[in-house]
Amino acid sequence: MVTRTPYFITTAIDYVNGKPHLGHAYEKISSDVLARFKRLDGYDVFFLTGTDEHGQKVAKSAAAVGKKPQEFTDENSAYFKEMDGYLNVSYDQFIRTTEPRHYKASQAIWKRIADAGDIYLGGYAGWYSVRDEAYFAEDELTGGPDGKKFAPSGAEVEWVEEPSYFFKLSEYTDKLLEYYDQHPDFIQPAFRRNEVVSFVKQGLRDLSVSRTTFDWGVPVPDAPGHVMYVWLDALTNYITALGFPDDEAAMAKFWPADVHIIGKDIVRFHAVYWPAFLMSAKLPIPKKIFGHGFINVEGAKMSKSLGNVLSPEAMVQEFGVDQLRYFLMREVPYGQDGSFSREQIINRINSELANDYGNLAQRVLSFINKNADAKVPTPGTLTEDDEALRKTLQELPDAVRAAFDTLAYSQALETIWAVIRAANVYVDKQAPWALRKTDPARMETVLYMLCEAIRRVAILTQPFMPTASEKMLDQLGVAPDARSFEALKIGGRLTPGTPLPKPEGAFPRFVEKAAE
Ligand code: MSP
Repeated sequence: MVTRTPYFITTAIDYVNGKPHLGHAYEKISSDVLARFKRLDGYDVFFLTGTDEHGQKVAKSAAAVGKKPQEFTDENSAYFKEMDGYLNVSYDQFIRTTEPRHYKASQAIWKRIADAGDIYLGGYAGWYSVRDEAYFAEDELTGGPDGKKFAPSGAEVEWVEEPSYFFKLSEYTDKLLEYYDQHPDFIQPAFRRNEVVSFVKQGLRDLSVSRTTFDWGVPVPDAPGHVMYVWLDALTNYITALGFPDDEAAMAKFWPADVHIIGKDIVRFHAVYWPAFLMSAKLPIPKKIFGHGFINVEGAKMSKSLGNVLSPEAMVQEFGVDQLRYFLMREVPYGQDGSFSREQIINRINSELANDYGNLAQRVLSFINKNADAKVPTPGTLTEDDEALRKTLQELPDAVRAAFDTLAYSQALETIWAVIRAANVYVDKQAPWALRKTDPARMETVLYMLCEAIRRVAILTQPFMPTASEKMLDQLGVAPDARSFEALKIGGRLTPGTPLPKPEGAFPRFVEKAAE
């Protein structure tokens, strides 16, 4: 039996103070693309996502609608899980931080940190941003009218004074800098790494890790009145999911995580606090933290006050799930900010999906269905043009894999589309329709080359567009067990003579409702 290499990928766990929006969807889709890619590439993938349910922000939102926090988080967490369903997010586990096993894991890591001598009781007097669930020093803030103060995120901060346990983060300054130095790829993209390094170089202050002015959190062991700072509890989700502290086998298999996918706003928590907690608890550090950019809407930041918060559910209904996934992954180079534009998604659906890819497949498959016996054609001797196309097709998987190595999804799609365009040029030049009468054997060769091109493209587009790619592979008569990247090797080719079903388009054009 071949042992597959384990691969543990996580997303941020979302706050359940409201319903999911396009930003949450973007992160889950991009992580799912990677999880699917790795599965198809033969890895033993464990893909984790879930919801972050404690803290003041969630407690306040629950109180604002007159609900008990647990009832409120039950309701909202369900919306996030539902989102994963309609976005086709193939998680292996959906974790909620209100689960008993998570209390156990959070208390266990707390104890290990305390046993290491890294926790002491003190008092916090300083600024806190509930929206960011983060502490800020005076010099990080900006002043507004009426003496109000704001965090770099624009969220208003409030003055907090309370007894609190502290984590000796200051003692990890040098250890962290050394770690970043020895693991240059730990934080990606590189410009985020530079931000983190300069932040840590300024020296770290000890971190308040318990709160006493509210109780919606994991109780601190043996410390009545203290609940854990929500970020200590939240970050621990990544090992709760592996059964920490009890399941040593799962920890040994999947920890440290291969990649934590998160947004740029929470890089500091993952690249500074989390490794420091883990060093203290004597647990290995994750291999990679990737901070993706933010999705804006028509160039503006999504915000309730602007009324431009987009519901992923409505977008899936309007454009289709594969279409939305394709658009987000193609439009925005991963790691940078990007914008959702209605005009642009419609453009890409119609030109890249319906025309370039959909038409290529539809033309070839309907022609085979009507004029070539509805079977995988039989190839003969290859011409120079055939060999050129074959070479391009053979090089494609490695080119796509290279793009995935740096999570360059958009580049992976560009590479695939270059091949689709090459296949379109090939079909126009070879004109199999004209060969039907003059040279039927040559027609078969050309059609076979094209079927192979579509097969390879469809196998590689599976992580991005699982449903449409499946439909495409069904139409090519590709068996379900011949759809992994293994099938892109020489022996995976289509078998001439395999009967093909009647084709139907996998990529409809987008037509405005009013115009229908
Ligand atoms: N609960 C914390 C994460 C804890 S992880 C141990 C949190 N939650 S969040 O709901 O505010 O954000 C969840 C994820 O969505 C984060 O990675 C965040 O960066 C991402 N996004 C939120 N808005 C976004 C956009 N507009 N665009 C892209 N991603 C964005 O932070």
